[in-house]
Amino acid sequence: MAKEHKRPDGRKFDELRKMIAKVGVVPNADGSAMFAFGDTVAIAAVYGPRQLHPQHMQDPSTGILRCNYDLLSFSVYDRKKPGPSRRSQEISKVTEWALLPAVDLSAFPNTVVDVQIYILQADAGTRTAGINAASMALAHAGIPMKDLVCSVALGKNDQQLIVDLTKEEEDYHEGEGATDFAIAKLANHDEWTLMQMDGKIQPERVKELLELANKVCAEICTVQTKALKSVVETGDEK
Ligand code: CDP
Repeated sequence: MAKEHKRPDGRKFDELRKMIAKVGVVPNADGSAMFAFGDTVAIAAVYGPRQLHPQHMQDPSTGILRCNYDLLSFSVYDRKKPGPSRRSQEISKVTEWALLPAVDLSAFPNTVVDVQIYILQADAGTRTAGINAASMALAHAGIPMKDLVCSVALGKNDQQLIVDLTKEEEDYHEGEGATDFAIAKLANHDEWTLMQMDGKIQPERVKELLELANKVCAEICTVQTKALKSVVETGDEK
């Protein structure tokens, strides 16, 4: 029988960290939001649609989405050197791909919508918190969207499936070690927009993991929607 696995912070295997979501955190942006999973805190600010320069990059049939993700220097224990890295470039690109299926920029030819994502505090799952914040910020900016995007990292410590891993859980080395599986999906459609994995998992357990992802994404969507609705109700919408 598999050894009983207790999570370091006492959460149940399918329990997310405490989520906090706020909209309108960057007043000068066209749309903005923050999203936190426990000690992982992301902010996103959206600018545009605005004319894209240089002109040769413009697409006369649609606007384009351009995402930039980075960790702030003080967000991690060892100071992070400012400026882009291979990691931040990769995460910026996968974030763009994760959000793109939700937005429709066909009414804004030759333009760009810039999404700036910064991580204030990192305790694993930063790309997923960033995607959640960015999806809310796009909605706050009034960008036409067919759905919100919900994102979370799931995985495995030894043989136990778990959701929303902390850095301590990502660094687990006992038994089969840790698996970190970041996903994003359209909240109300059966469409995955991100799947990235570090570690190993038996193919037959992926289905189980995706069922778990569907369940917790519904909880994430509820938190995102509540934050967006509260802005509409208080009249602070853009
Ligand atoms: O953050 P996410 O899980 O999406 O991506 P990762 O590349 O797997 O990074 C995992 C974690 O490592 C981050 O959330 C940070 O807590 C930590 N990290 C760090 O301490 N210093 C860095 N330069 C990069 C990541």
